[in-house]
This record gives sequence, structure tokens and C-alpha cells, in this order.
Amino acid sequence: MDKKKLLQDLIHDYTRTHKKSEAFFQRASQFQVRGGSHNLRLFMPFPFYDVHSQGSTVTDVDGNSYVDFWQGHFGNILGHNPKFVLDTLIDYYKQGNGLSTGFPSTLQSELAELLLSRISAEKIRFSTSGTLATMYAVMLSKAKTNRDLVMKVGGGWHGSQPYALKGISLYERGLTKVESAGLPSGMDEMILITRFNDEEDLEEKFRIYGERTACLILEPFIGAGGFIFGSKKYIHKARQLSYQYDSLLIFDEVVSGFRFHAGALQNLYDVQPDLTVFGKAIGGGMPLSAVAGKDEVMALCGPDAIQEKKVKVEGGTFSAHPASMLAGLTFVKYLQDNEQDIYPRIGRFGLRVRREIENIFTTHGFHVRCTGDGNSVAKNSSVVGVHFLHDTCDQIESPEQVWNPDVCDIELREKIFKLAMIQEGFNVFHGYGSISGAHSEEEIQTSLDAVERIAKKWKGKK
Ligand SMILES: Cc1ncc(COP(=O)(O)O)c(C=O)c1O
Repeated sequence: MDKKKLLQDLIHDYTRTHKKSEAFFQRASQFQVRGGSHNLRLFMPFPFYDVHSQGSTVTDVDGNSYVDFWQGHFGNILGHNPKFVLDTLIDYYKQGNGLSTGFPSTLQSELAELLLSRISAEKIRFSTSGTLATMYAVMLSKAKTNRDLVMKVGGGWHGSQPYALKGISLYERGLTKVESAGLPSGMDEMILITRFNDEEDLEEKFRIYGERTACLILEPFIGAGGFIFGSKKYIHKARQLSYQYDSLLIFDEVVSGFRFHAGALQNLYDVQPDLTVFGKAIGGGMPLSAVAGKDEVMALCGPDAIQEKKVKVEGGTFSAHPASMLAGLTFVKYLQDNEQDIYPRIGRFGLRVRREIENIFTTHGFHVRCTGDGNSVAKNSSVVGVHFLHDTCDQIESPEQVWNPDVCDIELREKIFKLAMIQEGFNVFHGYGSISGAHSEEEIQTSLDAVERIAKKWKGKK
């Protein structure tokens, strides 16, 4: 398969059918860096600009429609712009509410109570992005323990905040490098990297650094690191070791919260972290995040904390924005009330897509593995990662494999397959993405038909 030629042809076709988006991109690039404000959205050769997203579908300025599996950075569990959330917001706005006032709303307490009823935490504070919330959680852990080191997982993405910009996706004999300039000095030494799902490595890191470690921050289901669930043993080991060394355990549930059932993933593992971070889905499409945890830790951001330990989780003109509170409350209640209808269905679709994509590519002589499979605790997984492997390898089990260009053909996944699926009318991310409650059985099947056509085409060019 001549990958270079394939990519050239795809770019040529994409450019031909996206003339207006191309013009928008050129104009936008005069004023915004590479035409936008989030690098992941700005895929090459240029992104399509959406005019309308509804349910499973997005329509761009050129009039092309796609079934979308990106779904708002995986946060739109019920598809784009669910009507019941929009209607609630419209009513609220019509009553003259909904913009920022700077006063605490009663909705805030309702959402706080609802979220706390879904996890084993005592107090919660709202913010506007997952990035800020993970940063606050780490700051709280450092203040609580009076320690300096932050342990994170290679492949873990916790947003663009200083304590998390090491060991993300830059593979150099492992995921261990600081990946951003402009950080405070000493971050390389301050952030320790441990390997996901590797109990031995975790034990070793705690044995050496445990007494200096403020926290272990990890995603119980790692998102950007390849859509892989933590094994039950690993997640319990993380809890046991963090207790043993008096470090705080922070679960970043920005992706996993409300994705696999109407609550935090930690409930399914039956593990209680010291702090939990939520984002994405809890806002029902509005900007909202939260840090929740034990009272004794969360109290450090309150006015009564002693000065030396006080953590300033308190900025944020738009924190707990009234419209975000209402959208979040409406959405989370809906997920809770309809849990049994939503999650088993999207979980079944997820399983079917993962198995069928592997089968299709295998039949056509490609070695492809899908990630996202649940485990004994998390059964309804609606996420699908697709990995094109250079060599036979039975399972993708670690972020190190996912980001190692000698193991996975990342260009084939992120550029060639992406454009090939767009050409077929499907917007995928990391090979496929996330299935929402708005996707129909037919859309799932037609996406698999598209994969089949692509595999056949590529086989012809092998
Ligand atoms: C696991 C995880 N944590 C934190 C973040 C950062 O959240 P936000 O983009 O809302 O700042 C993300 C974003 O993708 C994420 O996936």
C-alpha cells in the first residue's frame, strides 16, 4: 500500500468537497493560530467548519453531513444538542436568567447533591474546565500532604496544566518526557511517571518515592492514552499503595464519569479515591467541571483553612455558571433516570463495533486491534479505539504501545483512516471514538460497511 499516494488522493478529494471550509480555514488562520483554538480539532489538511450538529450528525458549511463519533470530545453521551437540555435552557433564558451574575444559585446545591450521591465524596467545588479541576486537585494534595512529588501515569492526559504536562504522547523509549515549554522550573523532577496497569512499576515507584509523593493522579479508564480500562487489581493496588504511603489518590474521571453508567467509574471498581475530578459530560454540553473529595481535603480551599495550607480553588468568574448548572443538572438527572435504557444499548454497540472492525481488517489481511473493551467491573463500554499494528501483537494493553510508532502506525490511524472515513460520511477520532445514545443501529451498521469498503480498497493497493 502506497501510503503517501493514498494520503495525497484523500487530501485531494477532501479539498475538492470542502471548498467553503478551506476558505474559512484560510481566513481563520489570519487571526487564530492554525485557524482555531484547540489543536485536536484542527486536523490536516484543514478542519471542516460545522454549521449544525444535532444528535448523531454534524453538517458542515459545504453541506456535507457526517455521522459523528467525536461527539464533543466524547462528552456528548446522548448526542449533540439534546432537545430536553436545550428546551430547559430556552425556558430559563426566556425568564430572564442564564447569564453570569456572580451570585451562587440554588441550582448549584442541587447539582452538588446529585453528583455527590453518585460517588463516595463529601464535598464538591465547581469550575469551568477539566484542566483547572485537575490542577486544583493536585494543589489540594500538595497542601494536604506538604509534599512535592506528583505521580502520574504515562499516557495520562489531565489537561494543559503545569503538573500534568509530562509523559503524555511523546514516545521516546517510553512516555516520560516533559511535553511543553513555558512551565515553572523543576517540573521534570516534580512529576514522576509510572506505567498504566503495571502494579510492579507502581510498587517500585512508591517504594522509592512514596514518602515524598503528594498524590497519584490517574484515569481509571485512560482516554488519550488509548481507551484502556485499569484492571481491577491495578486500581485496588493504587488505592492500597496511596494509603500505605499517605499520598492522596486522585481519580481523573473527566472522560469516564457518566460514560459507562450514570455515575463515576470508581463505583464500579468499588474504590474510593481521596479526590475525584469530573468534566465533560456533567455539564450537559455547557462548560463545567468539578473537584470532589473528602471533607478534610476539600476544606483546604475554604475560608477556615489555616493560612499555610489554604489552597486558592476560588478564582473563576464563571465558576458554577447558572446556565451550566441548569444544563448539568438536567442532563445528569436524565442519565440517572434512564440509566438502564442508555448504557446497555451503547455498550452493545461498542462491543459490536470493536469486534467487527477487527474482523473486517483481519479478513482483508491487515493487523488491527481495537481498544475500549470493558472488563469484569465495567461492562458497558461505548468507546472504540482503532490501532493499526506493524507487527502481530495480540492485544493493545498500554499507552506505551499506543504511542510507540514502531508498534502502531499512528499516521495511518490519525490521517489516512480519518480522511477515508470522512470521505465515507463518518467523523471518527483515534480511529473511531465514542458511541452516543443518539446513534442508531443503522448508523452503526453503515459505519461498519464504510470500514469494509476502506479495507477492501486498501487491500487492492497492498
Ligand atoms: C482525562 C481528562 N482530564 C482532563 C481533561 C481536560 O479537560 P478540559 O479539556 O475540559 O480542560 C481532559 C480533556 O480531554 C481529559 O480527557
